[in-house]
Amino acid sequence: MLAELEPTAVKLLERHLTTAKEWFPHELVPWSRGRDFDEGERWDPAASKLCEGARSALFLNILTEDNLPHYYRTINAHFGNDGVWGEWNRRWTAEEGRHAIVIRDYLAVTRSIDMRELERARMRQVSMGIVPNPDSIADGIVYVALQELATRISHRNTGKLLNDPEGFAIMSRVAADENLHHLFYRDLVSAALELDPSRMVAAIERQVRSFEMPGAGIEDFKTHARVIAEAGVYDFASHHDQILIPVVFKHWRVEQLQNLKSAAEQARERLVKHVEKVGNVAKRMKSRLAPRPAAIV
Ligand SMILES: [Fe+2]
Ligand SMILES: [Fe+2]
Repeated sequence: MLAELEPTAVKLLERHLTTAKEWFPHELVPWSRGRDFDEGERWDPAASKLCEGARSALFLNILTEDNLPHYYRTINAHFGNDGVWGEWNRRWTAEEGRHAIVIRDYLAVTRSIDMRELERARMRQVSMGIVPNPDSIADGIVYVALQELATRISHRNTGKLLNDPEGFAIMSRVAADENLHHLFYRDLVSAALELDPSRMVAAIERQVRSFEMPGAGIEDFKTHARVIAEAGVYDFASHHDQILIPVVFKHWRVEQLQNLKSAAEQARERLVKHVEKVGNVAKRMKSRLAPRPAAIV
């Protein structure tokens, strides 16, 4: 599959490189709002006016970004180091690296979070190295297509919640990177659907049904995920309305695919039912049942 997708990947990488705009994390950080930390200094929650949802979202977002070495390892194991695949993975890694840089600098200067607690959490998280590891190339590209979009939505909504134009600009900039990553993988999946629709529909069904955000290995992930769902950063409704419907149904046109093998037909039926179920849960949540995180769909 990788060999067949290679010409598409070359075009998508070229498109990515011409669309991506250079940016500098240090130019977005409001350094003048910061001051030195004393050794062992305790964090004062009163130093920041952030709501609990924004704090949880920033905590999950940065720890997820911090796990980059393990995403690189996983993608490298699937795609290899050579040709366009290696080139894409290295470029993608370089872009992702600046996300943790800019968010961490923002958190430190604004004292939005307990930086000692965050560093300990980062050490635990990266030492564990738990990241999603889809079973095949087909599953992998579907997962990252969905996950990059979910991450874009989460960063952007987090930015809105900060109530701080400088924080909003940072999160929007990061979200713009995630969007370009999403477009690369989304269109790679479209090409793969043309090559082998039955295999891809089965992969889409598996990945949609088992979807979890990449931060699922983070300590207290479910609690934080619930808090961010309640704050509207990422919940069932965003998962359904902004990912499953526009990508799976409108863009990949899964319902219109012809000549599927019978196992793929059955997978498509399960997929359609699952998405309907997520949509129903999202509607119930909106009518004020206790919110739950999309990560446990
Ligand atoms: Fe990122
Ligand atoms: Fe990304």
